[in-house]
Amino acid sequence: MEPDDMRWWQRTIAYEAYPKSFQDTRGQGTGTIRGITERLDHLASLGVGALWLTPVYRSPMVDNGYDVQDYRAIDPSFGTMADMDELIARAGERGIRIVMDLVFNHTSDQCPWFLESRAGRDGDKADWYLWRDARPGGGAPTNWRSIFGGSAWEWCEERQQYYLHTFASAQPDLNWESPDVRQALFDVANFWVEKGVGGFRVDAITYIKKPDRFVDGTPDGEDGMARIHDMTANTEGILDYLGEFKRGVLEGHDVFSVAEANGVPASDLPRWVGADGVFDMLFGFDHMHVPMGAAEEWCHAPAWRLTELKQALTGYQTSTAADGWCPVFFENHDQPRSVDNFLPAGADRTQAARCLATVLLTLRGTPFVYQGEELGYANVAWPSIDDYNDVSSRSQYEFALREGFSEAEALEAVHRFSRDNARTPMQWDAGRNAGFSSATPWLPVHDDYASQNVEGEAAEADSVLSWYRELARLRQDHDELLCGDYHELLADDERIYAYTRASANATATVLANLSVEPAGYDPGLTRGSALVASTHGGATPGMLRPLEAVIYETR
Ligand code: NOJ
Repeated sequence: MEPDDMRWWQRTIAYEAYPKSFQDTRGQGTGTIRGITERLDHLASLGVGALWLTPVYRSPMVDNGYDVQDYRAIDPSFGTMADMDELIARAGERGIRIVMDLVFNHTSDQCPWFLESRAGRDGDKADWYLWRDARPGGGAPTNWRSIFGGSAWEWCEERQQYYLHTFASAQPDLNWESPDVRQALFDVANFWVEKGVGGFRVDAITYIKKPDRFVDGTPDGEDGMARIHDMTANTEGILDYLGEFKRGVLEGHDVFSVAEANGVPASDLPRWVGADGVFDMLFGFDHMHVPMGAAEEWCHAPAWRLTELKQALTGYQTSTAADGWCPVFFENHDQPRSVDNFLPAGADRTQAARCLATVLLTLRGTPFVYQGEELGYANVAWPSIDDYNDVSSRSQYEFALREGFSEAEALEAVHRFSRDNARTPMQWDAGRNAGFSSATPWLPVHDDYASQNVEGEAAEADSVLSWYRELARLRQDHDELLCGDYHELLADDERIYAYTRASANATATVLANLSVEPAGYDPGLTRGSALVASTHGGATPGMLRPLEAVIYETR
């Protein structure tokens, strides 16, 4: 690929904001859309051109907005539609396009569509959700366990039937078999296209197509249930629906799509992305599953090796090499902080974050930076499960207790993987509540805010934030980092992640020591190349200091 062939969303850096925790402008302890507008300068300084907002639609907030009540309204806690229009316009002036989160697998149980559907079996929307009778003799239709724990079926008195929910019971799954449902969802997306957004992140998309027959799965735990993911993810025929979405929404508009696709293996990516695929990019989770385990049972997290992580990242790079594009990400609002997730305990956090940032911004693909990652945030460790807000943290805690772990062990797993790790408020300065809000924040500010905050880090040449800004500039100045081919080096090395990015005119060699020990490599790898950047300032060919990352270039 040549630089001129690249689309704007391939050249840029994307940033994910969690609006509830970004910037409060009303003294209410939760963030607002106006708060995001006020902080656009910070994003511009990072070279961000696409800003993904997790859902800001009207919602009862059982799952912090992923339970949508009205896709065409802004939740009053975030502000108004006028605020949203203003954000789209002001961001546009800075070359930043807004990316909306489309939650299309399910709605809130307070969505008027669901209220109508549950009212009876004869109405227009009777089949908009997945209703089933009880088993003969009573009980849920299948033994599927929802992703947030407990049965994936909820009994509805009004309709005298069960409805299916992949996530919480307040998030009933839509029935994509209904052409009316599909059209209603495409209309929603087009409403936002008309508003001028630049793209969509599509939530939980692998679950929209259910199997033809609903049958019990083999129980995998004490509760006699089977994971719904194993029964319904990535079901044959899903791409037909998504092809309709492509034709009905994406085609003919300058909007990009990136879909959350848990359950799509890297080898399957060519069917999903690229010229004949349905999306521009897919968030795969192979690399996240290395420390967490593919079953995503936090208490059963495996021991892991760096080579497994490198293999997962290389899988995405190679499966999209010929045709297609990757999002590159180490964090999002569902994941723990990357310095704790991917680097050894005890690693110097600033060095660790700078080392990971080097990889994040030099792999082939669009980097997605998650709020706070650019400051080097680490996990929190609150003393009791009652301190946690996240619905999945509570269910994982209870699951761990059922599996025979002690309360302390269950809490340790929550400390390690809780989604709240990523949801604490943005730290803008060293003042009260880190400049996030004048009121008590909905989740406590991390207690390191006096040293990790935007104002302080902007003033320090060696900070994580300064390194992100430098990498963003480098990426623009070196075409091979934007569009060069990826080739992995030292694949068996358990300390160093190394690769080249080669374009017609230049080759960059990136070496990152993701360990807390010094690591040697064959100096022949970089002989004749010029050092372009180093996390530690200067570099010794053939040797990397702990957590050192370097970029060399040959022209
Ligand atoms: C994935 C989202 O990222 C997560 O936050 C949410 O809980 C589920 N999908 C359900 O919408």
